Amino acid sequence: MTSISHDRLLIIDFGSQVTQLIARRLRELSVYCEIHPYQNVTDAFLADFAPKAVILSGGPDSVTREGSPRAPQSVFEMGVPVLGICYGQQTMMEQLGGKVQSGHGTAEFGRAFVTPNAHKLDLLDGWFANDKEQVWMSHGDHVSQIAPGFEVYGTSPNAPYAITADASRHFYAVQFHPEVHHTPNGAKFYENFVKIAGFTGDWTMAGYKDQAIAAIREQVGDKQVICGLSGGVDSSVTAILLHEAIGDQLTCVFVDHGLLRLNEAEEVVKMFRDNYNIKLIHADESDLFLGELEGVSDPEVKRKTIGKLFIDVFQKYANEIEGAEFLAQGTLYPDVIESVSFSGGPSVTIKSHHNVGGLPEKMGLKLVEPLRELFKDEVRALGLELGLPQSFIGRHPFPGPGLAIRCPGEITREKLAILQQADAVYIDQIRKHGLYDEIWQAFAAILPMKTVGVMGDGRTYDYAVAIRAVTSVDGMTADTYPFTHEFMGETMTRIINEVKGVNRVFYDLTSKPPGTIELE
Ligand code: XMP
Repeated sequence: MTSISHDRLLIIDFGSQVTQLIARRLRELSVYCEIHPYQNVTDAFLADFAPKAVILSGGPDSVTREGSPRAPQSVFEMGVPVLGICYGQQTMMEQLGGKVQSGHGTAEFGRAFVTPNAHKLDLLDGWFANDKEQVWMSHGDHVSQIAPGFEVYGTSPNAPYAITADASRHFYAVQFHPEVHHTPNGAKFYENFVKIAGFTGDWTMAGYKDQAIAAIREQVGDKQVICGLSGGVDSSVTAILLHEAIGDQLTCVFVDHGLLRLNEAEEVVKMFRDNYNIKLIHADESDLFLGELEGVSDPEVKRKTIGKLFIDVFQKYANEIEGAEFLAQGTLYPDVIESVSFSGGPSVTIKSHHNVGGLPEKMGLKLVEPLRELFKDEVRALGLELGLPQSFIGRHPFPGPGLAIRCPGEITREKLAILQQADAVYIDQIRKHGLYDEIWQAFAAILPMKTVGVMGDGRTYDYAVAIRAVTSVDGMTADTYPFTHEFMGETMTRIINEVKGVNRVFYDLTSKPPGTIELE
C-alpha cells in the first residue's frame, strides 16, 4: 500500500517488554510513529524513513557485554531530537563517550522517586510540582559517567543520572520508563518531547481516513477486491473504508459457520446490505461446518477443522467473483510489528489461532491492508469517523472459531442453541446494569455435563452453563471482573428461568494466566 504522509517518529526497539507502550503514548498525542528492531535500522533505512525524532527503547541486554546491540551512530548525526530510555539511555551514553557499569548494588526495580536538579529542562515542563516525581525503574546496569556535553537534571536514590540531557543538541537520556502507567506523569513527559521535536499532531483519524481512501484507490485502480467479513470491528472497518474508496469494486464474503451468537448472522447481513449497500455474499455453510465437527471434542482438532473449512469455503465463494485481484484484510499494527527475539526459538503454541493466513498466495491475490498502521483503539476511532455506531464499535472481541470453543466436548445443535440463548440473556443483563463497557470480554459457555436440580415439584437433569467476564488491555493477560453477588444471583435466576435446558450456572473465577480467556 502506498505510504501515507505525516511527520514520523522512529522507535528503535532493543527488545523491552514495554516498547509497544511508547508507541501507544505517542499515538495518543496524535503523533505517527513506528517501531523497528535495532537490527533493521541501517543508515539507508534512516535516510528513507526521515524521522523527525528518534526514541531508543529499553531492552534486556547489557551494554557492558561485548557485541551487545547499538543504535547506528548516524542517529546522533541527523540533527533530530533523540530520547534514550533505560537500555536506550545506556547505549546512548556509551556511544557518545560516557560509561556504563553493571551491578555494584545499584540495580533498581519498581517504583522510585526522582528529585530535580537546580537546572531547568524543557523536557520536564509540568514535572516536579511537589519537588519529586514518581517513576518506574527496571535496571541492573547504570550510567557511571555521562557523555561530554550532558548535564544532570534529575536523580533517584539508586540512579544519580536518572535524567540527563545535552539540551543544545536535544539529546535526552532517562533511566526510568516514562511509558508505563507507574510513571503517572509520563504522558506529560512525552508531550514535551514531541513538542520539542516540532510535531504538530497531524495524525488524526479524520485525516487518516482521507489519505487511506486515496491510497486504496491508487493501489487498486479499477480492479475487483474481495473482503472476508466476520462481523467484528476490524473486518467491518476495513470493508466500509474500502467501500468508501472503491464502491462496487468491493464484494464481501460473510462465512456463516453456524457458530455465531444469537441473531448475529442476520444482524451483520442487514447492517452491511441495508445500511451500507455493500455487495455481500452470505455464505450459509452451517450444515457443512457442524457436520464436519460432529463427534469432535479435541480443542485443537476443532480449531484446525474450522480453520481449514473456512479457507475452503472462502475460496469457493471468492472464485465466483470475476476478475478479483485483491484480498482485503483487517491486519493491525500489533500484528506486523516485528519483535526483537533474544531466545531465538519459536514461542510455544498455546492455541492455534483461526485466520486466513496463506490464503492470498494460494489464490494468487494481492493484499490490501488499510489498517496495517493502526492500533485497535485507532481502528475504533476510524470506525466512528466512517459512521459506525458506538454500540457496534465497542463490541467485545469474538473469536474466529466462535461458539465452538465455548462448548467444551462434543458440539451439538441442541447445545449450541442453549448456549446462544444463555449468552444473549447474560449479555442483556450486563448491558441493563451498564457494565458492558467496563468489561473487556464477557460470554457464556456450556459445560460438557448435566446436573440434577429441582424446579417446582420436579427433578430436573439439565445442562450447566458457565458465565465468564474479564478485564484486560490486550487479551494477553486478564483479570476476572468482580460482579456483585446480587448481580450474579439475578443473572443465575434469569438464565435458568429464560433458557430451557439449563438448571445450573457457574461463575468462572479464573484469571489469565493460569487460565485462558476462552475455555478451549
Ligand atoms: P485466549 O483464549 O487465548 O484468548 O486467552 C485471547 C483473546 O483472543 C481471542 N481468541 C481468538 N480470536 N481467533 C480469533 O480471532 C481465534 O482462534 C481465537 N482464539 C481466542 C479470545 O476471544 C480472546 O479475546
